Amino acid sequence: MANNPLKVVAFAGSLRKQSLNRMLLQSAISLAPDGMVIEELDIHDIPLFNGDVESVGTPQSVTDFKESIAAADGLLIVTPEYNWGIPAVTKNLIDWASRRNTAPGNVLLNKPVSIMAIAGGTRGTGALVRSQVRDVIVFPSAIPMPSGDVGLSGGLSNFDDEGNLVNEVARTQVEQNLAAFADWIQRVSS
Ligand SMILES: Cc1cc2nc3c(=O)[nH]c(=O)nc-3n(C[C@H](O)[C@H](O)[C@H](O)COP(=O)(O)O)c2cc1C
Repeated sequence: MANNPLKVVAFAGSLRKQSLNRMLLQSAISLAPDGMVIEELDIHDIPLFNGDVESVGTPQSVTDFKESIAAADGLLIVTPEYNWGIPAVTKNLIDWASRRNTAPGNVLLNKPVSIMAIAGGTRGTGALVRSQVRDVIVFPSAIPMPSGDVGLSGGLSNFDDEGNLVNEVARTQVEQNLAAFADWIQRVSS
């Protein structure tokens, strides 16, 4: 492990205040292994992608978002599944991040990525959205960790009243994912 901690930036593709996926992201921050720091990106001011807006100047919120990803060793994407697919919020962020022709360019290029999802119901684990996120980030040349995604069902039952992830099986999944992600970042960058 390098002397400097690995820096991972993360977003949860949901804008609602009580988002389960944001709670999962917060749990990942607190469960990060020694040698890794995870920072949540602020996505609330990022507009829908619009080529006309981009052509007259990328919004500052987007530039800040992209620069944070560019400066990080890895990106953690935590996302809900909507209708067996990628929610607009998550896809919009991926699309802005991939744009080559606005500074600082395609920030997904060669970026190690880990993917997590939590579903509100008891059956799904976001398997389809996790697979689809992997598919769409490969074209802009991100390097998703091949296996070991976190996929949780059961929504709020995984958390206590303060939003701490208390389901032991889920905590273990998150810890194992982040440990594997640290190894993946080191492998990809060596
Ligand atoms: C439009 C819509 C579609 C949904 N489709 C799915 C789905 O395909 N699979 C699933 O497991 N949950 C689905 N859900 C339920 C979500 O898992 C649940 O709303 C979850 O809390 C959303 O994530 P969030 O809490 O981070 O906002 C859907 C919810 C919405 C609003």
